[in-house]
Amino acid sequence: MYPARGLSIVRRPFLADASGMHTIRRMPDRYVLCVDDEAIITESLKRELRAELPHLKVEAAYSGETALKLLAEIDGDGGEPAVLVTDERMPGMKGHMLLREARKAFPRMYGILLTGYSDIDAIAHAVNEAGLFRYIHKPWERRDLMMAVRRAAELYDREAELEILRRRVEELNEALIAALEHRPRDWDPDSFCHVQRVACYAALLGRRLGLAETEVRKLYTYAPLHDIGKSGIPHEILDKPGRLTPEEYEVVKRHVEIGTDLLKSVDVEDFVKDLILYHHERWDGKGYLAGMAGEHIPLSARITALADCLDAMLTKRPYMEALPFDDVAREIEGDSGKRFDPAVVEAFRAERESFREIAEGETARYCRSLRDPP
Ligand SMILES: [Fe+2]
Repeated sequence: MYPARGLSIVRRPFLADASGMHTIRRMPDRYVLCVDDEAIITESLKRELRAELPHLKVEAAYSGETALKLLAEIDGDGGEPAVLVTDERMPGMKGHMLLREARKAFPRMYGILLTGYSDIDAIAHAVNEAGLFRYIHKPWERRDLMMAVRRAAELYDREAELEILRRRVEELNEALIAALEHRPRDWDPDSFCHVQRVACYAALLGRRLGLAETEVRKLYTYAPLHDIGKSGIPHEILDKPGRLTPEEYEVVKRHVEIGTDLLKSVDVEDFVKDLILYHHERWDGKGYLAGMAGEHIPLSARITALADCLDAMLTKRPYMEALPFDDVAREIEGDSGKRFDPAVVEAFRAERESFREIAEGETARYCRSLRDPP
């Protein structure tokens, strides 16, 4: 099996520019791979593509099997397979099979199939199983093929740029949440770790519960926003070393409403508002502010509630020392059906060792796997 495709664009180091004041992202090489068992055709195609699209690297393979090995090598060397142009009729692995296998490892890669007029079944397979971008009948017009490859490479570049932008927004989001949670007066470098841990815990629970990857991703991005409303609670109360008075506790409770109000003018989906407004609700109905119970509480809030409590108990607070992981796990499992949704607790139990690793500092590795699903 080939290595899962990493989002290597954004993981690459930054380079300082000449002034040292700015940074420039080092872009990986983008590759077009041509595959045909007839070496003369493949080589001439490679030459033409190199001449026509000089900003791309062009490689050739003479069978599906060697093409897959070459794609893995390109990826291993830090390149990005952007377009795969393959003949359908080859001994061994057929073109549509190659496209299907290649897309498993490189889901963003564009596929172009070169076919005869009678290869309609192969085209159907390639469209349905490998998201085929274009099929071109043989013998092809040079201009048609060049246009198809050029267009595929442009789309690939555009999607990669969007991915970089999206990641930057997420990074800014994390920084913003950390800043709001801890405010400059008591800035603590651990605040980023807290944000990341809650993101990981929530996303891991979501994945274990069988949510779609888009939902898992949303949990990763937005669960750390749950306490954004604490920016509206006075420092003296939040940082008070002893127990809060009943009046002070009532003030703290308002953070769920303040957080929701803060996002009123922003076009965020209900998923986000729900996890802010309802993350202190309890399964047994004894939480705040709405006093909702059971499945009336939105799932995103039920998940965030456990993720938040887990990290809070594992972290030293003004009024309490950090607890050992096993004690915290016992407490969470004991609160199944009371404070927490039994299904969410079950997901926690099933992933208990992963949670322990995140709590012990393996956050970065988990963050990567939750942000960039295989
Ligand atoms: Fe909270």
